[in-house]
Amino acid sequence: MDALAVAPLLPPVVAPLKAASSILHSPGSPPLLGCVARLAHIVWDGTVESFGTIADHLRERLGPRGAEPFATPLDGKVCIVTGGNAGIGFATARALARRGAHVVLACRDRERAQAAAEAIARTPPLPGCCGTPSPSPSPSPPAPPPPLSVEALPLDLGRMASVRAFAADWRRGGRRLDLIVCNAGVMGPPRRLETADGLEVQFQVNFLSHWLLANQLLQIEHERRQRAKAAPPPSAAAASKQLPLGATAGGAGSALPLSARAGGPHSPSPSAGLEAEGPGQEGEEEEAVRVVMVSSLTHRAGALQWGDKQSKNRYEPFLSYGLSKLANTLTARELQRRFDRSPQHRGYTAVAVHPGLVSTALANGFFTGVGTGWAADWRAPLRPLAESATECFGRLLGPLLMRTPDQSATIMLAACLGPRGAVAGRYLALGTPTRPDEYAEDEGRARELWAYAQELTGCPPALD
Ligand SMILES: NC(=O)c1ccc[n+]([C@@H]2O[C@H](COP(=O)([O-])OP(=O)(O)OC[C@H]3O[C@@H](n4cnc5c(N)ncnc54)[C@H](OP(=O)(O)O)[C@@H]3O)[C@@H](O)[C@H]2O)c1
Repeated sequence: MDALAVAPLLPPVVAPLKAASSILHSPGSPPLLGCVARLAHIVWDGTVESFGTIADHLRERLGPRGAEPFATPLDGKVCIVTGGNAGIGFATARALARRGAHVVLACRDRERAQAAAEAIARTPPLPGCCGTPSPSPSPSPPAPPPPLSVEALPLDLGRMASVRAFAADWRRGGRRLDLIVCNAGVMGPPRRLETADGLEVQFQVNFLSHWLLANQLLQIEHERRQRAKAAPPPSAAAASKQLPLGATAGGAGSALPLSARAGGPHSPSPSAGLEAEGPGQEGEEEEAVRVVMVSSLTHRAGALQWGDKQSKNRYEPFLSYGLSKLANTLTARELQRRFDRSPQHRGYTAVAVHPGLVSTALANGFFTGVGTGWAADWRAPLRPLAESATECFGRLLGPLLMRTPDQSATIMLAACLGPRGAVAGRYLALGTPTRPDEYAEDEGRARELWAYAQELTGCPPALD
């Protein structure tokens, strides 16, 4: 039986403890104190969060329905959500589309993406968004709401060629961009897996491909804005002939079928909204592009994997996942530092967010895997007990201790739409600016990571 068999029964606690055990048993371990402190921090944060989640579930069931947060219309804004077909990405994409944004789901599977786009298009908009009137006591029956504006485009983050093709299509379409949510992710395959590009899968899908995508799209958007500034203002007729947002961004066959898109009458024109005020921040300087990097409270564990970024010497799923999330947290901070240095990027924002422990395929799959592995370590007479404990967590405690994707979308909205001054360059844990791990605040490590990303992708950063 594993020495960790005495650990508490919950897989979220078991995972960090198994990681600690793996570190202590491998050569060249990082300093013990830092290791214990970081893993304890994660267990503590996760436990405190779970109590908050129980309270949220109760409030939602028993209390009155609160007002929708960040309800300022986003009509005219264009947002990309990677992995927008499922889980947190789907809920976030839908929340943005309900506020009037045109949302692009960037997904690897055509059918899943199309189904998600259709489901989002059918959702009613928030009152006052997407050209719908604000609620009023008028006696006449309201007109049926327009479909939400959403489309799906192919993007496989496990292949850099796919990221480059996505960016090339975006450039060819001359499309505008206001927000990119780098959300897609994989967590903790039990064995080390490599992508088609020969890199550890979590490192590439969660971090590196997003780094490449964000840098390429930022460059494209920057050039588009420069061109728009230099060009004389288009007449109304010419503007209406420009690429409609529901149109294919690129060559034939690159986009998903047209039925996956729904452009309501509120669909913005590509140049619309350039002058628009940033989301919900009256009086602030004009909002430009915002980059949201989805992180996790497990980013703290990433420090313990820093010296072996491809997990070649030791593969511990929890640590390699943590490294990819640490890299995302560092990327948000470094991007913001670069935006702030560049007069041409005034108003640009980058932010990292922990979206909460959320009941999705990713979290459930990981915890089930950890729980099953843990149960298998017990001696025969006790094994059924351990298996029942894992099963009990999965079925009963998991949904109680974890948020729903819609609850998480509210947290994501704080990163996507929260006031720029409060979130720029920050790590938001559950919607609140919070100090991340010291590695995530280290400029030297940020530079090291960017140089490494540049070397692996061959892409010069957009802001050098
Ligand atoms: N759930 C949590 O408790 C939690 C906590 C902290 C952070 N996060 C982070 O939140 C993000 C969303 O996770 P989730 O919980 O919503 O998980 P999810 O429901 O499993 O969604 C993951 C999404 O990523 C997509 N994806 C995976 N590999 C991809 C690839 N190679 N190319 C393009 N897309 C790919 C998936 O597409 P397919 O449907 O095609 O697989 C799916 O749309 C992740 O970055 C995760 O690390 C989650």
